[in-house]
Amino acid sequence: MANFKVKDITLADSGRRKIQWAESRMPVLMAFRQKFSKTKPLSGMKVAGCLHVTKETAVLIETIVAAGAQVSWSGCNPLSTQDDVAAALADTGISIYAWHGQSVEEFYWCIDKTLEFKPTLTLDDGADLIFRVHSEQPKLAKGILGGTEETTTGVHRLRAMADAGKLLYPVMAVNDAETKWDFDNVYGTGQSSIDGIIRATSVLLAGKNFVVAGYGHCGKGCALRARGMGANVIVTEVDPIAALKATLEGFQVMTMDKAAAIGDIFITATGVKDVIVKRHFGKMKDGAIVCNTGHYDCEINIKDLYKLSKKVTEIRPNNEECRLKNGHRVYLLAKGRLVNLAAAEGHPSEVMDMSFANQLLALVFMAKQGKKLDKKVFVVSKEQDQEIAGMKLKTTGAAIDKLTAEQLAYINDYSAGT
Ligand code: ADE
Repeated sequence: MANFKVKDITLADSGRRKIQWAESRMPVLMAFRQKFSKTKPLSGMKVAGCLHVTKETAVLIETIVAAGAQVSWSGCNPLSTQDDVAAALADTGISIYAWHGQSVEEFYWCIDKTLEFKPTLTLDDGADLIFRVHSEQPKLAKGILGGTEETTTGVHRLRAMADAGKLLYPVMAVNDAETKWDFDNVYGTGQSSIDGIIRATSVLLAGKNFVVAGYGHCGKGCALRARGMGANVIVTEVDPIAALKATLEGFQVMTMDKAAAIGDIFITATGVKDVIVKRHFGKMKDGAIVCNTGHYDCEINIKDLYKLSKKVTEIRPNNEECRLKNGHRVYLLAKGRLVNLAAAEGHPSEVMDMSFANQLLALVFMAKQGKKLDKKVFVVSKEQDQEIAGMKLKTTGAAIDKLTAEQLAYINDYSAGT
């Protein structure tokens, strides 16, 4: 019986070409593949993964396999799977359950399929897989040495579970590695979200009022890249420190109530629900474009938008025209799901290289140490972060200086002053 379910297995060749393209831009992960295909640090491990099925994820999956593990995989978002990549993975014998355009029931069916082989490690992006283990199949946790988590939202969920004493095995917060969030979240989200907006709309960004809700790392990336394209960027925030940072970066900061009336394009990047709701849609200009790049599709209240609409028409892929009862048209992209993955291809390979090298090393760490660890959320070691940064830097051709013995002594000498 086939150990996969994908949209169309005949897409495998196209997917394989994309994977090869990604491999050529992920030198750090590929260096670990070479090393671990000899040392096999994941030998005997069964890794269940729930993370966007993209060409970059395929490079990670095939590296995990090269390191000696068996893998079973599902996507972590109903709209983010690249069907040709899923086909290429299935074609080489990877157990994978993922296709673009799933219902919520199908999404959980896929996760459940990946749990059938009783994993020893779990890898998440958003914590849906690990939460499924805890809520539906807690007995499986006994055989699981540890887990890893890719994203801010998932880490928040897991810390809440750990604080409530509910976490059944240790988890590594891969998101919190500096070589992950300081690059992937800022430059990856920034570029790929703009890419998604352009693919879904083809609008000119120059001169537009571009409203970014949330000035965390992802919001900052969107704001910087939109400004680079000539947009007038407006930031909305709930945190005074983040708002102040946006102000000093030169962005206008105002409430969403105010921004709603003047924005041309809105993107949410908050991790919080109901950022754009009924009263905001009611104020929007005719032609306003609304999208989300946060992990879950709750940031824009889509029910409100549909209720206010007298007609909804899909005018091009990932772009729904909502004709409001007040006569205005509001365009909803990618049904309020991650616009960068649903309407584009997710973060570019170059940044995922570091994120996924962290994932790989976190799995190896959990395989070795998981049994001895408390049931808590752990962070990546400084050594791991430095190693990955050093390897990546080398591939860019940049070189750095080394502290002299005198400089090192100076750093540690608290008596040295004026
Ligand atoms: N998350 C954001 N971009 C991604 C990508 N290209 N692959 C996997 N996960 C992602």
